[in-house]
Amino acid sequence: MHTINNITDLIQFLNRIGQGHLVENIYNFTEEEQNEFLQQVNRLNKSYPGGLEQYTKSARVFLKNSTENINPYERFTPSVPIGEKINFSSYEEVEYLESIGREELNQTAFVLVAGGLGERLQYNGIKIGIEFELTTGQTFLNYYLDFIKAFNEKAELAIMTSDDTYNLTMKLLEDNNYYDFPKDQIIILKQEKVPAMIDNEARLAQMPGSLLIETKPHGNGDVHTLLFQRQLPQRWMRQGKKWIVVFQDTNPLVFRALPSALAVSKTKNLEVNSLTIPRKPGEAIGAICKLTKGDQKLTINVEYNQIGSLVPKEPVDKYGYSIFPGNVNCIVFSIEEYNSTLQKTQGLIKEFVNPKYTDSTKTKFKSSCRLECMYEEYPKLLENDSRVGITQVSRAFCFSTVKNDIKTASQKYQQNLGPESASTCEQDLYSMNRVILKLVGVEVESSNVPEYEFQGIKLNLSPQIILKPSLGVTLAEIKQNIKNNKITISKNSSVVFDGETFKEENGSYEIDGQFNIPLQYQSKSKYRSFIEIDENAPQHLQIRGYDINRN
Ligand code: UTP
Repeated sequence: MHTINNITDLIQFLNRIGQGHLVENIYNFTEEEQNEFLQQVNRLNKSYPGGLEQYTKSARVFLKNSTENINPYERFTPSVPIGEKINFSSYEEVEYLESIGREELNQTAFVLVAGGLGERLQYNGIKIGIEFELTTGQTFLNYYLDFIKAFNEKAELAIMTSDDTYNLTMKLLEDNNYYDFPKDQIIILKQEKVPAMIDNEARLAQMPGSLLIETKPHGNGDVHTLLFQRQLPQRWMRQGKKWIVVFQDTNPLVFRALPSALAVSKTKNLEVNSLTIPRKPGEAIGAICKLTKGDQKLTINVEYNQIGSLVPKEPVDKYGYSIFPGNVNCIVFSIEEYNSTLQKTQGLIKEFVNPKYTDSTKTKFKSSCRLECMYEEYPKLLENDSRVGITQVSRAFCFSTVKNDIKTASQKYQQNLGPESASTCEQDLYSMNRVILKLVGVEVESSNVPEYEFQGIKLNLSPQIILKPSLGVTLAEIKQNIKNNKITISKNSSVVFDGETFKEENGSYEIDGQFNIPLQYQSKSKYRSFIEIDENAPQHLQIRGYDINRN
């Protein structure tokens, strides 16, 4: 796309692509404002393949399909995708897979998609900077980097940011000295926003009182194009890497499932492997389905509100779960095939549009909309889908996110839906860690009934257990680092275990109270309970509705 150099050419260009309304009043604005607008148009033309002309052309088609209610999966028959189920119910079951996956982790690169604003959470800051557990006060990013370093000291992490998150991500990293992760192994990408549209003709929206076009996030599907443009898959192949793991900003549990998922990628020779969980019919998470229509085959995430158009009633297993697995949105790609697909397609993911209309005539939008894309739509770039599959893991070992503000979370909880809040995520982390310790032979006392209630959400938060990745990233490693010590942990305990905790063999530890808690998080009382907060408490506490007792 060539650069537009002056206002006359700009007016001509916008008229030609059907966006003349943007420049109707251009001469009412100062020369400086006109130039700022010219530069914005040039930037938008450059950042989107085919520029604004292609963007609006595609948008008109999507908007037309949307008004005509065209179902993209018309006449496709869904079935269960290939893959493997792991229950995490016994040490032996997991140990075997983890031993295979552990090797593969040495040949894995990581990609974190962190360009989202998190509007639903109403947190004024970036999500990866949230202190997600109060026992050590660590942030999501700290936890992710510790895991990746423990997987492999040479592993690289690419973080996709956006205009909304770039500055704060850099600040978080710099303020914390990159959490002791090698700085040159972190690669920062930044996605650009795309123009917003005001009607079915894809006329672009303007900022009030300005010439500038309103822009909105394009969705996390940009990650593939950015990886392609930065040639990262090629770089990682040169380093001998075989896999890329793409994960999201607020799901800490997923790291415990990754060794097993990599084992499934390897043993089943999967090109694309999505982590999934058992999902109740109607539950608001996408399902990975294998769709077939004649010779056409596509294994893809189907949004929960589209499943109804494929099957009138979702078939269930004997436990009442849908036979279609729920998508966790953590995907393992085999690099070699991924790279060759990107070379052919530039990683350009099929977009969609999601306008909210004022009424059934579908002529007016409630607010401007834009084209969006999602990285889980990647299988649509493949010609042959025979090696796209899933690794199904129990929810307790791979899925608990922080997406909703506390009020919404509370409403969801009352309706028996997943609250996906900061409080339930913290609870689920402790709970997973308790089960892990039990699986390796530690005696952990815990209660089956929730002991706390904050903002209408009942929580089971004790004992609080943090297992640092340095203790081990597989059950076998954890067992080895515990060194035959006999450990019992009472319900009223706050515990941090890391690679340094157990120096001696065959000792005995009866933990009842605080154990190995960092100084600044210790309290004077033996057991640190959770307490109500008032409206002056910091934001990371407001989003969960409680604090830990620090007195
Ligand atoms: P979410 O579904 O959590 O959306 O994104 P969000 O935009 O962050 O939050 P809401 O909807 O405003 O509340 C899933 C993942 O995709 C990333 C997010 O950072 C998160 O890891 N994402 C989302 C991007 O990287 N870019 C985007 O444009 C949107």
